[in-house]
Amino acid sequence: MSEAANWISIAKVSDVAEGTAVPVETMGLQLAVYHLEGGDICVTDNICTHAFALLTDGWFENGLIECPLHAGSFDCRTGKGQGAPIEEDLKTYEVRITNDTIEINLPG
Ligand code: FES
Repeated sequence: MSEAANWISIAKVSDVAEGTAVPVETMGLQLAVYHLEGGDICVTDNICTHAFALLTDGWFENGLIECPLHAGSFDCRTGKGQGAPIEEDLKTYEVRITNDTIEINLPG
C-alpha cells in the first residue's frame, strides 16, 4: 500500500530567483530549493553526502550544485552524484507548485 501524500509548503517561488539555490529549514530538514533557468523548481537535501557542508553555500549552474568543501557535485533534479569524491546520491523530494507556493511531498 502506498503512503498518503503529505504536501508541505516550504517557500514561495518568488523568493527563489531563477538560476539560484536557496536554503530552507523546515520540520527538522535542511533543504536546498533550486530554481532552474527556464523555470523548473527542484528540492534536495542541503547537506552534502560526502562530509558536512551546505550545498547552497556552493555553486549552482546548469542544474548542477557544486559543494563548497571538496567540489563534489550533484544533479539537482535527480540527486545523482557526479563522481569523486561523492559516493552517495542526494535525497530529492517530489515538488508541486500551488499558485506561488513551493510544496514538497513528505509521505507520512
Ligand atoms: S563535503 Fe561535499 S564534497 Fe566533501
